[in-house]
Parts: sequence; C-alpha cells; structure tokens
Amino acid sequence: MKLIIKPVIKSNICVRVHPIGCRENVKRQIDHVKKEGHFEGPKKALIVGGSSGYGLASRIALAFGAGTETVNVSFEIPPKGSSKTGTAGWWNNVYFQQFAKEAGLSCKDFVGDAFSKEMKDQVLTYLKEKVGKIDLLVYSLASNRRTDPKDGVTYSSVLKSIGEEVRGYTIDINNLSLKEEVMETATEDEIQSTIKVMGGEDWQWWVELLDEAGLLADGFKTIAYTYLGSEATYAIYSDGTIGQAKKHLEMSAEKMTKELKEKYDGEALISSSKAIVTKASIYIPIFPVYGAVLYKVMKEMGTHEGEIEQKYRLFKDMIYGDKRITDVKGRIRPDNLEMEEDVQEEVARLMATVNNDNIQEKTDIKGFVEDFLRINGFCFDTVDYEADVDLEELAKLPL
Ligand code: NAI
Ligand code: NA
Repeated sequence: MKLIIKPVIKSNICVRVHPIGCRENVKRQIDHVKKEGHFEGPKKALIVGGSSGYGLASRIALAFGAGTETVNVSFEIPPKGSSKTGTAGWWNNVYFQQFAKEAGLSCKDFVGDAFSKEMKDQVLTYLKEKVGKIDLLVYSLASNRRTDPKDGVTYSSVLKSIGEEVRGYTIDINNLSLKEEVMETATEDEIQSTIKVMGGEDWQWWVELLDEAGLLADGFKTIAYTYLGSEATYAIYSDGTIGQAKKHLEMSAEKMTKELKEKYDGEALISSSKAIVTKASIYIPIFPVYGAVLYKVMKEMGTHEGEIEQKYRLFKDMIYGDKRITDVKGRIRPDNLEMEEDVQEEVARLMATVNNDNIQEKTDIKGFVEDFLRINGFCFDTVDYEADVDLEELAKLPL
C-alpha cells in the first residue's frame, strides 16, 4: 500500500515524518560539508546520539569532512506496516548509511538504549572485533528518561526552573502563534533526577568501559554538548534543572580530562552550541520564542548557522584545527556568534515587546517552523509531497 505523507503535529511533536524528506535533510548537510572541504580529523569515532540534531551533524561533519569511520548509537523507531512512518532519526540513519557507503566510508549503527549495559557490551564487542581503538567519542544524547543499570531505577528529567517559576510564551507550531506558558519550579528530587539523566554519569561510564577494554587510541578525545546562553535564557536553562545537569557534565569532563591526559595525552571537552530547532529543544518551555527571535536577528546580521555549520566549524577549526575559541573554564565556544553583544541586545529588545499581533515582524517564526518541519522531512522544495511513499518497500532498506 502506498501513502501520501503530510505533517501531523500534536502538542509540537510531529507524529508523522517523511522518509524522502529526511533523506534530503541528510543530503543537504553532506553537500554543505563537501562544499566546505576536507580537514584532518579522527580516523575512528563513536557517536552516542548521532541520529538527529547536533549528533547527526557531528557524524556528517566527521565522516564527509575528515573521512572518519563512524559508529553510532541512537534510540529510534522503524516504520511499521503501511502507515506508521517511524521516527526521523530512523530514516536519517538509513540514508546516512546509504550516502556513506556510496562514498566508500565505513559506518555502523546500533539502535537501542545507550544507557543500558547490554548496548554498551554490544558496541564494545563490535569495536573490538571490527574497528579497533577509537580516536573520538561524541556524546550527544538528549533524553527524558534513563534507567541506571547499576541500581535498576528509572529516572526522569524535567525542564523546570529553580527557585521561582518563569512566565513567558511558547510557540504553537500548528497555529503559528504565541501561547502563554509557565515554567514551574522543580523539587530537589526532580533536580537530582534530571542530573541522573542529562548529567555526565553515563558519559563517564562509556569512557571507563572503553578504557578498560583497551579501545582508546593515543590522543583520544571525547566531547559532550551544552548550552550556556545569556540573560535571556538563564532562568529557563542555565539556572534551571537542565543547567544543573549540564554543570554535572562539566564536572565529569574535568575529572576525565585529568586521567585521559596522563594515559593517552587525551582530553574530555565541553562545547557550548548555538540554539537551534531540534526534537529536544522544542520541548524546553519558552526556549522556542528565544530561538525564533534569535533566528531573525542572526539572519539579518548574516551570522545565522544551522547544526551542520556549527559542527563543521567545531571539528575543523576548534577540535582538530588551531582556531579553538575557549572561555575561562576551557569550554569550547562555537556559540560565539550567538553570544555577540549586539546580537543579545537586539534579542532582548525584541523579546520584551513580542506579542501575537507583531510576531511575524519581531521573530522569524516562519524560518523557525520551517526548520521544525525539515527535521521531520517536510518543507523541502526538492521533494514531491504529493507522491506516494511505499513504506513497506522503504522498510527493506538496510541499517
Ligand atoms: P536530538 O533530540 O536531535 O538528538 C538526541 C539524540 O539522542 C538522538 O540521536 C536520539 O536517538 C538519541 N537518544 C535519546 N535517548 C537515547 C537512548 N536512550 N539511547 C540512545 N540514543 C538516545 O537533540 P539535540 O538538540 O541534538 O541534543 C543533543 C545535545 O546537544 C544535547 O546534549 C543538547 O543539550 C545539546 N544542545 C542542543 C542545543 C539545541 O539548541 N538544540 C543547543 C546546545 C546544546
Ligand atoms: Na543529537
């Protein structure tokens, strides 16, 4: 049976995705990297969370920019029957593989729970048998839940503020309008659970297991992503529950870097990325309005970047090149353009006055929603959305 796939959005989640559009999303990122050119990078990399957003862009930048062999672990859902489309990340993996193989690049995908011990064992076995020592581990997970195999408890992360609630707006994607939203305050228990899910504990465990298995090469690097932001987002991000988890991530990096330095002349890094639309970021209360205003300001100034521009620049210039931008804490800052004073001043000015009557003029809601549709495979002028898609046929594509 064939199917015409249109976006269906419920509470800002796209419940259907378009496989051919996901292919286009991957292809455009590959084309960007090919146009920008080759750089010297790692030979072999493990990416945890490489099926969408910043993890996928990292994988593409490394594979197509530096010829890196990539092993990716992600949690995605395949299509089912003739009408369940599966998740965008599923198709991103399928088509990444297709393009990589055409280009003669080695790659492998594991789909399942990266937090589990079983998945770690499977990946370690594969690395031992087929890949050998790795030069880089990119840790780019965004999840709302983690079962810790060590105590069997399932922890849930929350996106809440600490101290005082925060009032603002979110973007209603279906109606292209603003909707009042309150970010509630977290309990101590919720803060600790969020740290369990989005902090550095699991990242560190991956590195320990790889180390014990003798799978880390000399000069090994590992990197995890954070968002630092500015006045405009402190209350909802840095000073909220997610910010506490990110501080834990930073502490983990400090610990690991000492050991990695001694043993491998390696390093554990934290990089702060620019705010962009992803499956994960769209969930953060009030963040989408900041994002839509930021898109407008940066596009007008000619400094706007998407995920692939961010990650190509990160790896080529800052991780493997000599143009590393760091802050006082040694964090790597490809978000430097977002943090420019004139950008932040203009963002603050617009955010203070935005409402439902002037939303078109004060924000780039159009571009923002377009990006949201694109990460789900919609809104590409090169894809025929009236054409039938045969999901059962596409489900046969190898992964
Ligand atoms: P995303 O939702 O696009 O990617 C999340 C990835 O994690 C996907 O590959 C997904 O399959 C994987 N994943 C989730 N649970 C998993 C599990 N249990 N096992 C295996 N894989 C699992 O999100 P995004 O935004 O790319 O986030 C990646 C990192 O970038 C996060 O650390 C986030 O905080 C950070 N970041 C994001 C920014 C943004 O504006 N989107 C800004 C700065 C940092
Ligand atoms: Na990601």
